[in-house]
Amino acid sequence: MTAEGEGKVAIVSGAARGIGRATAEQFAREAYATVGFDVADPEDGPPDGWRLERCDVAEEAEVAALVDSVVAEHGRVDVLANVAGIVLVKPLAETEWDEFRRLVDVNLGGTFLTCKHVIPVMERHGGGVIVNLASVSGHVGQVDHSLYGASKGAILALGRALAWELAPLGIRVASVSPGSVDTAMLRSDIQIEADLTGSSFDDVKALREQEQALGRWAEPSEIAEAICFLASDRASFVTGADLLVDCGWVAR
Ligand SMILES: NC(=O)c1ccc[n+]([C@@H]2O[C@H](COP(=O)([O-])OP(=O)(O)OC[C@H]3O[C@@H](n4cnc5c(N)ncnc54)[C@H](O)[C@@H]3O)[C@@H](O)[C@H]2O)c1
Repeated sequence: MTAEGEGKVAIVSGAARGIGRATAEQFAREAYATVGFDVADPEDGPPDGWRLERCDVAEEAEVAALVDSVVAEHGRVDVLANVAGIVLVKPLAETEWDEFRRLVDVNLGGTFLTCKHVIPVMERHGGGVIVNLASVSGHVGQVDHSLYGASKGAILALGRALAWELAPLGIRVASVSPGSVDTAMLRSDIQIEADLTGSSFDDVKALREQEQALGRWAEPSEIAEAICFLASDRASFVTGADLLVDCGWVAR
């Protein structure tokens, strides 16, 4: 049996750590030629079997150059996984305009820019798949996450419309909405809560884990699995859909 990614090329944003890194590793294991990119250096050593480039997803010139370099090397792009994202945990009234702008620039603007530059490449080669990262915060209200949730809700709306826009080009569009995933992003959330409440990090973490139906957080690899499924031919009839990988959070 041929490996799923044989002859295919995947781009993954936010691949230096967390869900993005796990996703790039999974694509590489499935034999995709995989190029990750990030604004930061890799946290757990150099990538093995895939490449990590420096690129800010919110800078159009950098995104365009990154896509050009992938096309120059591999000739095509079959999968785009938009994983890069930042979180903002703050009451709305205390949020600065610049913080809002950066949040929207990275989460929504970054998704726009990678799609904009990858779509023509996919079109030239008869299609592809775009998988965006949303969040449970785009589905349900979470205190101090209104703007982050709004940025993720916008990604859900973008995906629904884009699925219809790109279907004639043979491009599928889907998203994954994770719940609580054990990454630096979630850990920083927990630290903020611990500082605000005067509790220890471990106590808040234990509390947040108990709130999960299965009593634990996800590993990044469990989200990567969902992203790679949606990107694969096994999901050939899936477009315009969001896959909740949230341990029942939204079902509660
Ligand atoms: N961890 C969770 O519980 C959780 C839950 C729901 C959704 N998500 C979403 O999943 C995605 C990945 O989250 P994570 O938990 O792995 O976060 P993370 O902070 O561990 O990793 C995010 C990566 O994106 C990179 N990044 C940030 N800004 C960038 C930019 N401008 N250009 C390029 N790269 C940039 C960071 O450097 C980092 O390596 C995000 O979109 C996040 O919103 C995470």
